[in-house]
Amino acid sequence: MKAIIWAKYGSPDVLQLRDVKKPTPKDNEVLIKIIATTVTAGDCETRSLNFPIILSLALRMWIGFRKPKENTIPGTELAGEIEAIGKDVTNFKVGDPVFGASGMAFGTNAEYICLPEEPDEMQRGIAIKPANMTFEEAATVPFGGRDALHFLRLAKLQGGEKMLINGAGGSIGVFAVQLAKYFGAEVTAVDSGEKLAMLREIGADHMIDYTKEDFTKSNEVYDIIFDIIGKISFSRSNIVLKKNGTYLLANPMSQIISGLWTRMTSGRKVIMQTASGTIEDLVFLRELIEAGKLKTVIDRHYPLEEIVEAHRYVETGRKKGNLVITI
Ligand SMILES: NC(=O)c1ccc[n+]([C@@H]2O[C@H](COP(=O)([O-])OP(=O)(O)OC[C@H]3O[C@@H](n4cnc5c(N)ncnc54)[C@H](OP(=O)(O)O)[C@@H]3O)[C@@H](O)[C@H]2O)c1
Repeated sequence: MKAIIWAKYGSPDVLQLRDVKKPTPKDNEVLIKIIATTVTAGDCETRSLNFPIILSLALRMWIGFRKPKENTIPGTELAGEIEAIGKDVTNFKVGDPVFGASGMAFGTNAEYICLPEEPDEMQRGIAIKPANMTFEEAATVPFGGRDALHFLRLAKLQGGEKMLINGAGGSIGVFAVQLAKYFGAEVTAVDSGEKLAMLREIGADHMIDYTKEDFTKSNEVYDIIFDIIGKISFSRSNIVLKKNGTYLLANPMSQIISGLWTRMTSGRKVIMQTASGTIEDLVFLRELIEAGKLKTVIDRHYPLEEIVEAHRYVETGRKKGNLVITI
């Protein structure tokens, strides 16, 4: 089968299209013919190990110290059709359309992947694809949708809260805006100017172009600030977060010290976590999608052969929502 091979850490040019052995499902696994996958900011950060030193070291220990060893095919989300099943599989049958995530095992930038029918410790898991989405659309949901849902559940929205989402125009943000609206919040979405029309279209109540306006200098006060991009200054944003308000941080490594300090010295809650996702989350998202309450935003499609270009584009930061790779 054709697959992208990630032979060393570095720029997008380290990615190569190669022919590799098609996998065979174990007894508890399904073989999926992948129709669409994605490139996310997280894929680019992992490819180049563009992380703070502690996280970078931890990932080297997991993936390979000098170069990727175990998991040499990148990509973490997919949509496709089940082509074969292991003898113990009972939840799926050949021909089922599915969407899902391969988590820290990666491997979706390829023609085929084997995944367990039940989720495992690596956050791998699949569910039947939303009926009203194309495979390309469905492939964008498992990463951004599940991560957004993870953080919004931690916010325990009751309805009526004022919530600011920083970095709202990317893979996690476009789902976070819609889910926050679904849970009843009044949403202010912060991103660069060219993404604001899209953010209004998916339901944001207010939009701020961070290149022109500093939200910490506005008169608005928020119950929750969800910083997806990890560029918040606590000392400044404390002014616009209520005293008992909540910070949600999706990029905790960049803010760990100031986040802990804010947690210790103010009444504000600071939640810094790695998102986890379940099959139930995928099913929850599918039901919202099928009810017409959640949609995806796709900026560009690239064929698998142009993965290097796709990574370059994601690294510009200009991506609106998601970038799909068609197989
Ligand atoms: N905690 C976890 O478990 C977890 C899970 C997944 C991902 N993450 C992390 O979450 C981060 C975001 O992921 P993503 O996939 O949503 O990224 P993305 O698709 O690249 O979106 C990030 C958005 O932030 C905008 N942005 C950049 N600088 C900004 C600023 N100063 N103020 C406001 N907006 C700004 C970008 O637009 P412009 O460039 O046009 O400004 C872009 O629209 C990544 O660093 C990823 O590693 C964490």
